[in-house]
Amino acid sequence: MIHVCRARGAFTSFGLSSPGRKLPTSTKFSYLSSKSHQLDSSKCKAIGIYFGTTSGSTEAAADVIKDVMPGTVGEIVDISSADITDFSGFDGLIVGAPTWNTGADDMRSMTDWDDKLDDIRELNLDGKPVAVFGLGDSCGYGEYFCDAIEELHDAFAAAGANMIGYTSPEGYDFTDSKALREGKFLGLPLDATNEDDLTEGRVKKWTEQLVTEGMKSA
Ligand SMILES: Cc1cc2nc3c(=O)[nH]c(=O)nc-3n(C[C@H](O)[C@H](O)[C@H](O)COP(=O)(O)O)c2cc1C
Repeated sequence: MIHVCRARGAFTSFGLSSPGRKLPTSTKFSYLSSKSHQLDSSKCKAIGIYFGTTSGSTEAAADVIKDVMPGTVGEIVDISSADITDFSGFDGLIVGAPTWNTGADDMRSMTDWDDKLDDIRELNLDGKPVAVFGLGDSCGYGEYFCDAIEELHDAFAAAGANMIGYTSPEGYDFTDSKALREGKFLGLPLDATNEDDLTEGRVKKWTEQLVTEGMKSA
């Protein structure tokens, strides 16, 4: 079957990666300040959105989610400045990462998530609703589309979270993904490179699904 790429958005795939290849640190963009995030305790009892990013797409998607998510979004936080012990203060969490470390078994996002996943597995998030979104390139990296979704999903599941927000692969044009399990994505894949015009609609549908699956602020 011929894999046809749809190029709807700005094409930003640099073709730098091959399976298992790690980017040198110097090619990673330092996107946000490293100053530690101070959680506003009045914003607890709400939904927390945490994202990692290298070139900004995952943060942009987090902003779209915040805008359309029904209910109170208390915090939107870059994982690079987050304290993961704050997770327990939220009614629910929406967490997002890009995939950069093509074909790798672990450390797939090449963001600060990678170093925090072991500690996240040790948290007690018993029953807390958690949903994962991921940014990827279904055309340039179609065999590894949004692989990091699975890694985040499994870390939060190990912490006892109630994982929600699985989606159908219907309507996506990709070859394979580690984020597929039993015919479903373990979260919401987004492709700002080729299908940016679909992002808002996908997010809207997904956030409505999240509410029906228990993602609500008190
Ligand atoms: C070197 C490189 C490797 C990439 N590897 C993958 C990949 O394995 N799977 C995938 O779906 N997307 C891959 N991408 C696409 C990025 O995930 C995509 O551009 C994403 O929007 C980046 O998100 P960010 O701006 O939040 O960092 C790669 C892009 C580059 C430049």
